[in-house]
Amino acid sequence: MTDPQEAIDAEAAIRAKERDARVGDRTAGEVQDGIPFIGAGPGDPGLLTVTGKELVEAADLVVHAGSLVNSELLEEYCADAERVSSIGKDLEELVPLMRDAYEAGRDAVRLHSGDPAIYGAALEQMDALEHEGVPTYLVPGVTSAFAASATLRTQLTLNGVANHVAFTRPRGKTLDPEDDHIGEFVEMGDVTTCIYLGTHAVGETMDRLLEEGHDPQTPVAVVYHASWPDEEVIEGTIETIGDRLEAAGYRASAMVVIGDAARKAGYERSYLYDGWANRGSTESEADD
Ligand SMILES: C[S@@+](CC[C@H](N)C(=O)[O-])C[C@H]1O[C@@H](n2cnc3c(N)ncnc32)[C@H](O)[C@@H]1O
Repeated sequence: MTDPQEAIDAEAAIRAKERDARVGDRTAGEVQDGIPFIGAGPGDPGLLTVTGKELVEAADLVVHAGSLVNSELLEEYCADAERVSSIGKDLEELVPLMRDAYEAGRDAVRLHSGDPAIYGAALEQMDALEHEGVPTYLVPGVTSAFAASATLRTQLTLNGVANHVAFTRPRGKTLDPEDDHIGEFVEMGDVTTCIYLGTHAVGETMDRLLEEGHDPQTPVAVVYHASWPDEEVIEGTIETIGDRLEAAGYRASAMVVIGDAARKAGYERSYLYDGWANRGSTESEADD
């Protein structure tokens, strides 16, 4: 097997020269030749897409992410398949596992939590497989920020309150402090900031926001295990959420939502449903 980084670089070099013929020829949601990288959704088996479910049910080999892919989903949809957790496995182990299955004519699928496109590290596996001659493709899933917004019974964009959404993560082992933009998103005021991979760092993130002078009353909601049976919501503000979360004891597997949308506060009716759309709005604005 080619060294994974060399494979990634080689695939990038090919893409720089010519467009992948499948782009524009295959739609998202279309079952294709090769190994699908499927978004398992946030946890509840019912939140896996229909296509994802059909592919998982037909699979001989299911390589799945660790604790955030619900074992209930695996039991329900692929109890008879060979199931391999990716926890503790590097590309050197995962890629030959999936390649060999594909070459042996077995149906292999790769299950990522939420949507593979968000903090999923899917592309490096796909590039390494493509480099080995194994076609791959993506099947989208429900990302945990969307499950959290459903739990909170809100929208992440809300007229007059939240015009933008940021999917982000805090500084830490894999992100340098200068690449942590949470303070900048909060500063913008009309952004709903959804923090992935940051449950353990909520206290220090909020302390930093306070030090930077952001409004201590800014709403923050933390949704632990959105869509799981043990889902829990902890609500507060930039000032209070750190202590509340510490008291609740969660250190992982939660979505942190900062901004007025977290509390559905102060929004205005939209243009869409006040007759304006029917008086000549553009199609794209009226589309939702
Ligand atoms: C490695 S990232 C994977 C994200 C995933 N690809 C997605 O689209 O949701 C893991 C982080 O996603 C968030 N997460 C995943 N599933 C979640 C859930 N059911 N409820 C809340 N947060 C979740 C947590 O912030 C967790 O630390």
